[in-house]
Amino acid sequence: MIDFRSDTVTRPCSKMRDAMSQAEVGDDVYGDDPTVNELEQWSAKRHGFEAAIFCSSGTQANLLALMAHCERGDEYLCGQQAHNYKFEGGGAAVLGSVQPQPIENEKDGTICLNKLEQAIKPDDSHFARTKLVSIENTINGKVLPLSYLADLRTFVNKHQLSLHLDGARVYNAATALDVDITEIAQHFDTMSICLSKGLGAPIGSLLLGSTELITKARRWRKVLGGGMRQAGILCAAAKIALTENVDKLQIDHDNAKYLAHQLNTITGFNVNIEQVSTNMVFVKVDKSIDIYAAAITLKAQGIILSPSENMRLVTHLDISKADIDTFISALKTVLI
Ligand SMILES: Cc1ncc(COP(=O)(O)O)c(C=O)c1O
Repeated sequence: MIDFRSDTVTRPCSKMRDAMSQAEVGDDVYGDDPTVNELEQWSAKRHGFEAAIFCSSGTQANLLALMAHCERGDEYLCGQQAHNYKFEGGGAAVLGSVQPQPIENEKDGTICLNKLEQAIKPDDSHFARTKLVSIENTINGKVLPLSYLADLRTFVNKHQLSLHLDGARVYNAATALDVDITEIAQHFDTMSICLSKGLGAPIGSLLLGSTELITKARRWRKVLGGGMRQAGILCAAAKIALTENVDKLQIDHDNAKYLAHQLNTITGFNVNIEQVSTNMVFVKVDKSIDIYAAAITLKAQGIILSPSENMRLVTHLDISKADIDTFISALKTVLI
């Protein structure tokens, strides 16, 4: 299968599977799993935070962050396009009694600081208490500039707010900027990282932050049913993702650019190449093309897409340059 739907579809490599089968484990709810403990301690240090917690998913890591920063009746400011506002089932409101205040994202994925300022509520019982700003990087494949992150840090300091990063694909951002991950992480009070996307682990995310916030998050993780016992099996794969697969993200980015150029050679497909900076390609498909029918035919040939007039294709560890050539030639044949 050549699967362009998402970078979540990767399968663990044999080295990960071997590490999983040999992992030393214990009951992590008792704090007894050496592989979990090692990953959490190592990743806290590596990313410049005091503490870390291994979570079942990016959704859980973000929810724990929102619930660690905010109490009942508080609110967080976020982008209208934010995954932790739009695509996580309203978890902060449903489970945390925390109100989201979404603000339209700018074209480059940032949130305008003036608009953020206007959204901060006065200390008045009519309003939820504004506590946190939450942003996402990369957002829809776009990388936020480091200067914006620095300005945002100054902004939250001025307004005594906290700052969370949904860093599901933060390593893609660091790769695109060619900076160490700490250049991004330094600006945030908490940061989540998905290990099961471009980094290729089968399951899991990390939440990083201060000892105090991660202790709160650990309590909420248990309450939410996320105490995972012998989770060292998963952390063994996660460690390989973080130590061996970060360097491979550049290949995904190069492949995304290659894919974008190839799509632009097909009549009726239009990619703005300037906007391809990580592993996501957004292609406008002309109305004259029945992309839904094409997707069904391609699927029968082992090529999977999420068809749409503004279609997202994602490159990852399990897609090579040769796979892109296979896809492009199959697509051209289907469209004849
Ligand atoms: C930006 C972003 N944040 C968080 C998540 C949630 O991750 P998970 O699917 O592991 O819950 C996703 C998933 O696609 C995502 O794209």
